[in-house]
Amino acid sequence: MIAVIFGPPGAGKGTQGDNITRMFGLPRVATGDMLRAEVEKGSALGREVEPIMTAGRLAPDDLVVRVIEERLRQTDAARGVLLDGFPRTVAQAEALDRMLRAGGRAVDLVLVLEVPREVLIERLLRRAEAEGRADDTPETIGRRLEVYGQQTAPVLDWYAQHGARVERVDGVGTIEVVRDRIRDAFATVGGDGRKLAS
Ligand code: AP5
Ligand code: MG
Repeated sequence: MIAVIFGPPGAGKGTQGDNITRMFGLPRVATGDMLRAEVEKGSALGREVEPIMTAGRLAPDDLVVRVIEERLRQTDAARGVLLDGFPRTVAQAEALDRMLRAGGRAVDLVLVLEVPREVLIERLLRRAEAEGRADDTPETIGRRLEVYGQQTAPVLDWYAQHGARVERVDGVGTIEVVRDRIRDAFATVGGDGRKLAS
């Protein structure tokens, strides 16, 4: 299964992505985590993306697509993955579609976590205190939300138009309550992407 966990910054993609990995064994492939690891290593790629990430803007599509292409070639991705933070633009969604189609695959489920703006900001500011992620400053949070609205939210319309299954889940509530909603949403999709008889 190829699933995408989708939503604005702070929606809980990473948190619930880990729950999905535990529940269904799908490896979580998170471009944000991969890029942060490159920044940490100080690699050429990391040095290129660091100022972009700190500003809350998006890394170039071709760069991110190359990172994903390489990751999906690894053996653990053969039976499926959960994508977190990718695709984030329509161009990335198109590139992913081409990549998957070459192997006879497609995105089976796009799971959208819906959380209101004020809750997102509250969560990210709390994380800033706890973890100090470089892009969790009030200014950069504002930029990330703006970029989400302008460049990332249109990806959902693209998936709806291209026949992918899009499931919206209320992302407000305790982590466990949201996890259970997600489990229910996954239960409606079979391993091969077809809806199971209910
Ligand atoms: P990325 O790392 O993907 O960040 P993001 O989308 O801004 O989202 P976050 O990771 O901040 O939030 P999340 O939805 O994962 O929520 P989380 O579970 O952490 O991207 C970072 C940057 O990398 C981008 O800005 C861009 O520069 C670059 N990048 C990445 N991918 C790219 C791509 N494809 N193309 C181009 N550039 C790319 O939860 C947030 C907080 O809330 C946590 O503290 C958590 O503990 C808490 N929380 C979670 N759930 C709940 C709950 N139910 N109740 C209370 N608190 C909760
Ligand atoms: Mg995340």
